[in-house]
Amino acid sequence: MEKLIVHGGNRLRGKVLISGSKNSSLPILAATLLTKDDCVIRQVPDLSDTNYMLQILRALGAEVERASGTVNVKAEKIIPDTPYDLVRKMRASICVMGPLTGRLRKAVVSMPGGCVIGDRPVDLHLKGLEYLGAKVQMDGGNIHIEAKKPLKGCTMNLLGKFGSTVLGTDNVLMAAVLTKGTTIIEGAAAEPEVEDLANFLIKMGAKIEGAGTTRIVVEGVKELHGAEHTVIPDRIEAGTFLVAGAIFGDGVMVKRVVPAHLKNVTDTLLASGYEVTSTKDSVTIMPGSGSPKGFHLTTRVYPGFPTDMQAQFCALACLIPGLSSIKETIFPQRFMHVSELKRMGANIELDGDTARITGVETLSGAPVMASDLRASAALVLAGLAAKGTTEIHRLYHIDRGYEHLDEKLSMLGAVTERVKE
Ligand code: EPU
Repeated sequence: MEKLIVHGGNRLRGKVLISGSKNSSLPILAATLLTKDDCVIRQVPDLSDTNYMLQILRALGAEVERASGTVNVKAEKIIPDTPYDLVRKMRASICVMGPLTGRLRKAVVSMPGGCVIGDRPVDLHLKGLEYLGAKVQMDGGNIHIEAKKPLKGCTMNLLGKFGSTVLGTDNVLMAAVLTKGTTIIEGAAAEPEVEDLANFLIKMGAKIEGAGTTRIVVEGVKELHGAEHTVIPDRIEAGTFLVAGAIFGDGVMVKRVVPAHLKNVTDTLLASGYEVTSTKDSVTIMPGSGSPKGFHLTTRVYPGFPTDMQAQFCALACLIPGLSSIKETIFPQRFMHVSELKRMGANIELDGDTARITGVETLSGAPVMASDLRASAALVLAGLAAKGTTEIHRLYHIDRGYEHLDEKLSMLGAVTERVKE
């Protein structure tokens, strides 16, 4: 195990190149299972999560090669059984369920366990596949999906108690592309990552309309062919660097981004008094003319404020004068970062799904424990601005979702060390 030591107090300045999106790469890699042909996926970030996905594809029978950010997959012959040992390492492994069901009419995937950001059920994924005609059974911790007869298109609503589901929409979409007839997914997730997956599927020969909105219409086709695709930039990595620029920067530019995907994040920064400017593929953050103001945000499905940026804004609010509040509606218990930030001197009151944060003048470096990917990022951000040294233990959480985070931060002037525990 490794830890990251962040020496606080070094202001950030410069440009950072954003990697391909983790949350697009995972379902897109899974979608290569839908064809026997060669697929080439570019800008796949080098992360432990994408590497787990490649191992899963191999275990299912696909030939996989990776050269830097380009992944070649040929899934000529595949099996429906997904190995528990790999699945248990990454919750997003669940997204092989849709393509396996679409292509083989059979899938066996371990039921994902609990997760530190809250209860993460998969009922909507299963409901969607059942609508298409698959039978779902639980046995020995595994989900068994089987359709004796070909799947049939239908109209369904995938909206749940907490809104739409990203990977649930992905799973149903990937099964529906090879399903006879028309499938209409109402209450679909409209996140850019779902649209990116749909764009890849369309290149493979799928007929899909409405991806990127809450109503997706799929006209099933008999088979899909190989395709090449470049994954969209990671809006959460970009947002994290923008917050780094806000918290302790003198001009940070994120390059190779889609500014429209970051709108809610940049709007919140603007409203707080930071200077934010965009070009076609970059966003720059500079300190504003006065001191920043507190903000009040609520996480929502896209295009609302992303839950995956909530922890980073919580770290930022710790150093903004006055009161800020953050309400988390997607994963109401996703506040593991709060107690660690408090150890660094933050003034945060947690009340159910809402954090009220009163800015303090400085945070002080401390040993802290990373708990999940975005919570860990929040601790790194706090460490950059803190007085003294912050040690972030369990660094593997960050390596799941940020490609070379410490190297990129160093290029902006941060001083960090990665050391073995
Ligand atoms: N939900 C259900 N039933 C389901 C599925 C989801 O009730 O069958 C609930 C969840 O419990 C949650 C809400 O619906 O309250 C939304 O969950 P969603 O299914 O959209 O989450 P996900 O698809 O499992 C993806 C991202 C997460 C991101 C969420 C929300 C990937 C690999 N993961 O998860 O990313 O937080 O969407 O935007 O795409 C991260 O990158 O750090 C991360 C956790």
